[in-house]
Amino acid sequence: MSGDNIVHVVGTGTIGEPLIGLLAGRGEELGIDEVTFHKRTPLVLDRSKVKDLIKRGAKLCVDPDRREEFKKLGMEPTYDALTAIERAKVVIDCTPSGVGQANKASLYNDFMDNTLGFIAQGSEFGFGKMYARGINDEALESKEDRFLHVVSCNTHNIAALANTLAMEGEGPSNLERGRFICIRRANDISQEENFIPSPAVGRHKDKKFGTHHARDAHHLFKTLGHDLDLHSSAIKINTQYMHILHFNLRVKKKITLEEVKEKIATDDRICVTEKMSSGLVFSFGRDHGYYGRILNQTVISIPTLQVHDGHEIVGFCFTPQDGNSLLSSIAGALWFLYPDTYSDRIQCLKDLFFDEV
Ligand SMILES: NC(=O)c1ccc[n+]([C@@H]2O[C@H](COP(=O)([O-])OP(=O)(O)OC[C@H]3O[C@@H](n4cnc5c(N)ncnc54)[C@H](OP(=O)(O)O)[C@@H]3O)[C@@H](O)[C@H]2O)c1
Repeated sequence: MSGDNIVHVVGTGTIGEPLIGLLAGRGEELGIDEVTFHKRTPLVLDRSKVKDLIKRGAKLCVDPDRREEFKKLGMEPTYDALTAIERAKVVIDCTPSGVGQANKASLYNDFMDNTLGFIAQGSEFGFGKMYARGINDEALESKEDRFLHVVSCNTHNIAALANTLAMEGEGPSNLERGRFICIRRANDISQEENFIPSPAVGRHKDKKFGTHHARDAHHLFKTLGHDLDLHSSAIKINTQYMHILHFNLRVKKKITLEEVKEKIATDDRICVTEKMSSGLVFSFGRDHGYYGRILNQTVISIPTLQVHDGHEIVGFCFTPQDGNSLLSSIAGALWFLYPDTYSDRIQCLKDLFFDEV
């Protein structure tokens, strides 16, 4: 008989699929009694993943008018979509751009009495308090924050770099400015659409921050009362492997390369690598991570590090695909369930953090 701590995931795409698997596979250690998930479209192509997620202990939930189609395709739903939200203590929305916000307005607001909280992913700016595990946990207010917005994978990466390399031990005023270029994969290996034939540069849509990556990192730190000078640009390249981030952090206090390496070495969230190819880093995750995922916030390529003029920390790092967003989604869910002990509980995922790739 399962208990009350039910987590419901909406969406089974690039982020939803591994999240459901991880929650189901590690549920007992995490203190989660049951994992349910909503799939919108009954597709024969998706049958294998749905059946495997069910095999791993998660329960399929569908819209009532799609139930028969799912059954006809051999996928057995357990609950209707609304019943699943009603039963859940935490709902994690993993739908694409704008849908999470729409779900909040049309659906989630009606379930505030029986649900502790709702979490949405990177694209849902404005959904709730921004959150990245290990960056702004102290900004979370129990019972006040019912909606959390887990920032995107590249925003996690930017925030981790700013935090560890420039601010930790020195305070936010030590970061005079942070400049970032997100070199993004065209699409994920789980996606067939939106691949591009050649590198494509991106517009700077945000007047102050360039792209949403630095904007979101700025707002993430704002939850702690910091007002950081951050700016990002983005370029997409014709690969399906990991995002790469080029960073340039100008710090007030003079620093040496050795001191930078020391800061990196003593931070659990950060992983280092002597590798310079995203394929090699990706491949490590495939062989040693949880179904391919490692949960570190960033993987810094040590040979690329440089300190310019004693004040500018420059280098490249890899964004571990969606691993950091998965970590924050699980940490956020545990925070709703166990606000006083979630930090201890999440340590059961420690084996998915690596010092070196
Ligand atoms: N991709 C990444 O690496 C990554 C990393 C970090 C954060 N994120 C964020 O995660 C979120 C989801 O991105 P994704 O890449 O996982 O998207 P995705 O692969 O396109 O998957 C979206 C999922 O949402 C479902 N869906 C779409 N519209 C829906 C609706 N109206 N109601 C219910 N379900 C709906 C789809 O269901 P059906 O297929 O059944 O129709 C699909 O399972 C975005 O906010 C994104 O910014 C993504």
